[in-house]
Amino acid sequence: MTRIHPSATTSPMSEPAGAPAFAVISGAQVQRVLTGREDQVVEVIDDAYRLHCFGGGTENPRSCSLRLPDRPASRIMALPASIGGHVGVDGVQWISSFPGNVAAGRPRASAVLILNDHDTGYPFACMEGSIISATRTAALAALAAEWLGCARPRPTRIGFFGAGLMARYVHTYLVGTGWSFDETGVYDLAADSVAGFRGYLERSGAAGRIAGYDSAERLIRASDVVVFATVATRPHVGDLSWFGHNPLVLHMSLRDLAPEVVLASVNIVDDVEHSLTGNTSMALAERLAGNRDFLCGTLDDVMDGRVMLPVDRPLVFSPFGLGVLDVALGKYVYDEVSRGGELRVVDDFFHELRRYG
Ligand SMILES: NC(=O)c1ccc[n+]([C@@H]2O[C@H](COP(=O)([O-])OP(=O)(O)OC[C@H]3O[C@@H](n4cnc5c(N)ncnc54)[C@H](O)[C@@H]3O)[C@@H](O)[C@H]2O)c1
Repeated sequence: MTRIHPSATTSPMSEPAGAPAFAVISGAQVQRVLTGREDQVVEVIDDAYRLHCFGGGTENPRSCSLRLPDRPASRIMALPASIGGHVGVDGVQWISSFPGNVAAGRPRASAVLILNDHDTGYPFACMEGSIISATRTAALAALAAEWLGCARPRPTRIGFFGAGLMARYVHTYLVGTGWSFDETGVYDLAADSVAGFRGYLERSGAAGRIAGYDSAERLIRASDVVVFATVATRPHVGDLSWFGHNPLVLHMSLRDLAPEVVLASVNIVDDVEHSLTGNTSMALAERLAGNRDFLCGTLDDVMDGRVMLPVDRPLVFSPFGLGVLDVALGKYVYDEVSRGGELRVVDDFFHELRRYG
C-alpha cells in the first residue's frame, strides 16, 4: 500500500486533498523484518549512532521516566528522538519495565514505538517496540564488542550474568556478527532462567561448551567477556579481584557494578550525559569520585581513534540506550514492511481534517 504523504492535507480554503495515512505494525511483522539480518541492523545502528555523535542533525533529549510509587520496582520510560539527514524521522519509544511480569510468564519489557513525519509532525506508524529496543541494544553491544575488543586477544569464553531476554538477544547478535566462543557461561539467581537460556543456547548451536555457574565470582573469573543483563537496581558486584584478568564487560543492565569497580576500570559509554543519570553505576561513581575523570570516553571516541584503551584494567562498556537508535531502527522496519506491501493502514485514523469543519 502506498503511504500518502502527511503534508497532503488541506489548506484553510479547500477540501482535504487526502488524509495522512497511519499504519500499525505488529511484533510479528517487526520480527519477520529483523530476524537473520544482524549485519544490516548493526549497520543501521552504526549509522544512527554516528549521526548522533558527529552532529548529524539528531536530537536525543534525556529520557523521561514515569516512576510508580505504588509499584516501585516498575517504571515506564519515554525516549523521544529526532533524526535529520538522510533518515529524516522523529518519534518516541514508550517502554515499560515490569520485572514482576516474568514470574507470570511474560517478558519484563513491553513497548510501542511511534514514528512522526519529519515535515508535518503527523504520526505515521505505531509499531511493537520491545523487539526494536532489545534489537538495537544487542546490535550496539555487538558493535561495541567489535571496537573495544580490537586491542585485546580474541575472547574465547563469554559469561552471561543474568540470563533473560536481553542475554538471548546479545548472544544472537554477537554470534550473528561473527563471534564464536569455546565456552558460554551462565549465572542467574533464578534456576528457570538458567534452564531457559541454556535451552536457547543449545538450540542456537553456537555456544560451544555451556557451563552453568552457581557463583557470580566463578563466572566472572572464568570469562573474557562478561555480559551483565540482570534487573538489579543497585550494585551487587564490588570485589575488584574478580576482574583481575581484565575482561571486557558489557554492562547492559547499568547498575550491577559497585562504583569502586567502575573507578578502577576503563569506562566507555554511549553518551556521557545520559549514562550519568538514573542512579546507574556510572552516576554513583561520579558521586563517589566527585568528578568524571574515570570516564575514558564514548564509543564514538573509540571509533574515531580519539581515545586509546589501556589493556591493564577491566574494560567496561555501559550503554544507557538512546532513543535515536529506536527511531532509526523503527524507520528501517517501516520501510521494509512498506517495501513488502504489507503495511496495515488504519482507515480514517486522522479524521478532523477540515480546519473549519
Ligand atoms: N542499556 C540498554 O540500552 C538496555 C536496553 C534494554 C534492556 N536493558 C536492561 O537489560 C536488563 C535485562 O533485561 P531483560 O529483558 O533480559 O530482563 P529479564 O527479566 O528477562 O532477565 C533478567 C534476569 O536477571 C536475573 N537477575 C536479576 N537479578 C540478578 C542478580 N543480582 N544476579 C543474577 N541474576 C539476576 C533474573 O533472574 C532474570 O533472569 C534490564 O536491566 C534492562 O533494563 C538495557
